[in-house]
This record gives sequence, C-alpha cells and structure tokens, in this order.
Amino acid sequence: MNIQTLLSNNIQQAMVAAGADVTCDALIRQSGKPQFGDYQANGIMPAAKKMGLNPREFAQKVLTHINLSGIVEKCEIAGPGFINIFLDKNWLAQQAKIALQDPHLNIKNNDKQTIVVDYSSPNVAKEMHVGHLRSTIIGDSVVRTLEFLNNHVIRANHVGDWGTQFGMLIAYLEKMENEQASEMQLHDLEAFYRDAKKHYDEDPVFAEKARNYVVKLQSGDDYCRQMWQKLVKITMEQNQLNYNRLNVTLTEKDVMGESLYNPMLPGIVADLKAQGLATEDDGALVVYLDEFKNKDGDPMGVIVQKKDGGFLYTTTDIAAAKYRYETLKADRALVFSDTRQSQHMQQAWLITRKAGYVPDTFSLEHKNFGMMLGKDGKPFKTRTGGTVKLADLLDEAIERADKLISEKNTALSEQEKAAVVEAVGIGAVKYADLSKNRTTDYVFDWDNMLSFEGNTAPYMQYAYTRIRSIFNRSNVSEDTLNQANIHLIDEKERSLSLKLLQFEEAVQVVGRDGTPHVLCAYLYELAGIFSSFYEHCPILNQSDEAIKLSRLKLAKLTERTLKQGLDLLGIKTVEKM
Ligand code: ARG
Repeated sequence: MNIQTLLSNNIQQAMVAAGADVTCDALIRQSGKPQFGDYQANGIMPAAKKMGLNPREFAQKVLTHINLSGIVEKCEIAGPGFINIFLDKNWLAQQAKIALQDPHLNIKNNDKQTIVVDYSSPNVAKEMHVGHLRSTIIGDSVVRTLEFLNNHVIRANHVGDWGTQFGMLIAYLEKMENEQASEMQLHDLEAFYRDAKKHYDEDPVFAEKARNYVVKLQSGDDYCRQMWQKLVKITMEQNQLNYNRLNVTLTEKDVMGESLYNPMLPGIVADLKAQGLATEDDGALVVYLDEFKNKDGDPMGVIVQKKDGGFLYTTTDIAAAKYRYETLKADRALVFSDTRQSQHMQQAWLITRKAGYVPDTFSLEHKNFGMMLGKDGKPFKTRTGGTVKLADLLDEAIERADKLISEKNTALSEQEKAAVVEAVGIGAVKYADLSKNRTTDYVFDWDNMLSFEGNTAPYMQYAYTRIRSIFNRSNVSEDTLNQANIHLIDEKERSLSLKLLQFEEAVQVVGRDGTPHVLCAYLYELAGIFSSFYEHCPILNQSDEAIKLSRLKLAKLTERTLKQGLDLLGIKTVEKM
C-alpha cells in the first residue's frame, strides 16, 4: 500500500473538482511533525495562485470534495493554505494486518517495465578494484528492488573486454603458456597486466607481435579469439568469486561486454556519417555537439572513429543504448558508473537520440557515484599507495568483523559465529556504501562501519535479532497470531504502524531514483521507532491477551519489513548475534 499515491490521487481529484486544471499536483508529502498530521498537501497554494484564488478559500473548497472516509480521520487547513492529513488509526491497523498476511507485504506494481541495469562492469585482465565495488553494490541493490517491484530486469555487466590492449595481452598469455606458467601466476591479474605492458614497452619483437594480434583478433582469427576468450574466462571466474562473497546476484550469464557491440559499430558510424551527424576531421569521424562547448566556447567534437579506423568507448555506448531499446525492448536503461564518466554518457546518449535510434519515451539514466576516499580525504589507497584489491578488502572486513564479534562475547557455536562474522563483515562494507547518497564522494572508515551504533549494518542486523528473540521466547502459535487483530491504542503503536506502511514509498523511490540510501534511512528510522515502541509497550509480560497479540503482530511486521528491506540491500540477516 502506497499511502502517498493513494492520497495524491484522491486529493488531486478533489482539486480538479474544485476547479483546478487536470495537470495540478497535490504534492503530498510525509509531515515532519505530528501536529501537522501524517501527510500534508503542499499543492494547494501553487494551484490557487494559478487560478487567482485565495489559497485558504480554495483549500476550503477542496476539502468539500475530498472523499477519504474510513481512511482519513480529519483534514485541517493550516498556515497560508496547506492541508494537513490525519489518517484514521483503525484504517492503519487494518492495513498493517493486510500487509502482514501478504508474502509481498501488500506491495504491488502494476506498471511492469523492462529495465536494463548496467553495473559492476570491470575490465578484462584487470583485478576488480574499489571503484567497481560501488557500482556493483549500489547497482545490485537497485536490481533487487526493481525486481521486487515486479519489473523485468536485465542485468548487463558491461565488461571492458575489447580494445587494442588485447594484442599485448594475447601475446603475453602465449608467452606465459609457452613457459608453462602456473595457474597461480595467471590469476594475479594485476601483475599479469603490468608485465604484459612492460614487455610491450621494452621488447620491440613482442610489441610487433602484439600489434599483429590486434589486427588478427579484430578480423576474427580463430587462434586469437580463443586466446581472448581464455582471458575473459580467467577474469570473470575471478570476479565471480568476488560477487559470491559479496552476495551480489550477478552470474556469468549477465556478461554483456563491450565486444558484443563491436560488430554493430561500423554500421552505426556509417549511418551517423550518412545522416550528416558525423563529419570527417583530419581523418577521424567526429560528431559536433552544440550542447557541449569546448574550452574556446565552440561546439565540442566527439570522436566516434579514430584516424586508424578504431572505435571508441563512446561509439560502443551509442550501440549499447540502441541495442537495449531495439533488441532488448527495454523501457529504461540505467548505467551505474563513476561521476567522471557523466559527460561521456550524456554525449553518447545525445548522439543516440539525435540519430533517432531511440524514442523520447525510452529513458537513459546515468546513475553516477562519487569516489571512495580514505580517512585522509584522498582517493582510497593501500598503505603503500597502491590500488586496493577488492578481494583483500573483503578479507580485511572478515578479519575485523571477527574481532568485533569475539569481543561481544555471546554464546554462539563456532558455526554460528562464522555465519555472523561473514554477514557482519561483508554487510558492513556494503551498508556503509549504500547508506550514503551515491552522488557524493564517500569516506571509507572501518571504525564507523563496524560500530553497533548509528546507521550501520551491525546495528540493523542486531535490531533484527532482537525482534527474533521476542518470538523465540514467546509461545504463541502462528495460527493464533494470524487470527488476532491489531489495535492501535498507544501513540507508539500508531507511529510504528504508520512507519511500517511507508515501506513501499521508500522502496519506490529507490526503484525510481536508484538511491538505496533512502531505504537505509527508512530502515534505520524504523528500527529506532520499534525500539521506542518496545520500551513503552510491554509485549511478553502483557497480561491483556488481545493487546499482547496485537503488539506481537506489529513486532512480526517489523521483523519482516526489516528482513525484506535488508534483503533488497543485499545485506544478510542472522538469527542471533
Ligand atoms: N568498464 C568501465 C570502467 O571500468 C565501466 C563501464 C560502465 N558502463 C558503460 N556502459 N559505459 O570504468
């Protein structure tokens, strides 16, 4: 149940009935303070202004048309022309009961779309580093959310698996195979790439061979393709280990690398030229965009084909956008990548639109994110200044979580403890990233993320176990609980119900904007409201059976909402910790 949508539709209709035009918006928002009701309509004033009416008088008229009996207890006009809406507590109780009965928490999405989500997207023959971590974690949470909202989601791991570097990499792989290098050596991708580059720079015979292999690979030579495939396979097997450890839903089947689009590029470039969009400039093909200015204030030129015939990152992204619309029949395509790629994405998509490859209704969205910084405010690096490998980072997370859980001194078996350490360690790294607004840079800080206080994974996971423990101690059967009703007598019970019913609003924002921090903030507030409810409203030692069961139901709905919410974030829960 999305209360905001329900109220928006209803009050908008009342506004139209009162004389506003059909495009008006009731602008329903959750109220900041209880005295302003549960929700408020902020759209009365702009609508009244448009009609030249006194806002309070118009509000008065709107009230006579509002038809929300049984849902709303009262509506009040406030200030210069706001409408404060107070929901009926019996309705809230009823809705909470319905949500609890439904495995999907009564969350529906009738507007099912096909949505491509381009995320993670590491590069072949390179180790995944922390930059890919943000894309992977945030993208995966949005994917889970969109699927929960009943959309058809296509995961697109836009792996960097094509380009001139592959000549050098194939030549080096061949050399290593000839020297019978061990599996081990092959699996250190960082060193592999570095050594290949070194040979390329220092050994002219090797460099010649590498250049030769690029040409052969591009013309589909069997041997070169096989060697290339081997490189892709080794890399992706290794990335898969990271995905599994991270509890990320990507599999090998989701790889849709740059090479997929390569056969489409000559046709696209020829078409851009035929349409007069791309023009020749010093042997290269360039699209000049008025919308972007270069440093001299002239239209910026975007190269789509180099002088030597090679294509670029932009050309591939034009093809990818076209493919996602035309072949995958998507309604939306989301790309999770670094803010530094914003201009690149906007340019590729502007060209895609100018060329008429996608209609206006197809939504192309760059879900950009800032950098991961160390505590010193500088880009996150190892102590010696190198880039941090994802696998090492996760090892450290587990080590630190082990220490944290050992200090807590709870009675867990070895096996239980290992599961807790894993959930908390990996969860902490993920949650720290997810809980920040992705567009800003974020400071990676072990101490903050592994604290049991504040908006952190351990806090949320612990809040969940506390509710679980209520049920472990209660001897109420599921049947009895199912049949019971919810009564909202105490103010704390009422606020908890309202918060629980606002889960859908948070989830829909995440699906629309690609902002999991909104869900984290929601869950954190929910946990806080539950705590204060639990403090004020005794449950297990409550003598009135009806009240006890009602409170147990609220606890159950909180438990399920927390679990579902954390699951959408890709954060594991445990039974006790
Ligand atoms: N492989 C790129 C990188 O490592 C990210 C790709 C993002 N997706 C896209 N369609 N450009 O920076």
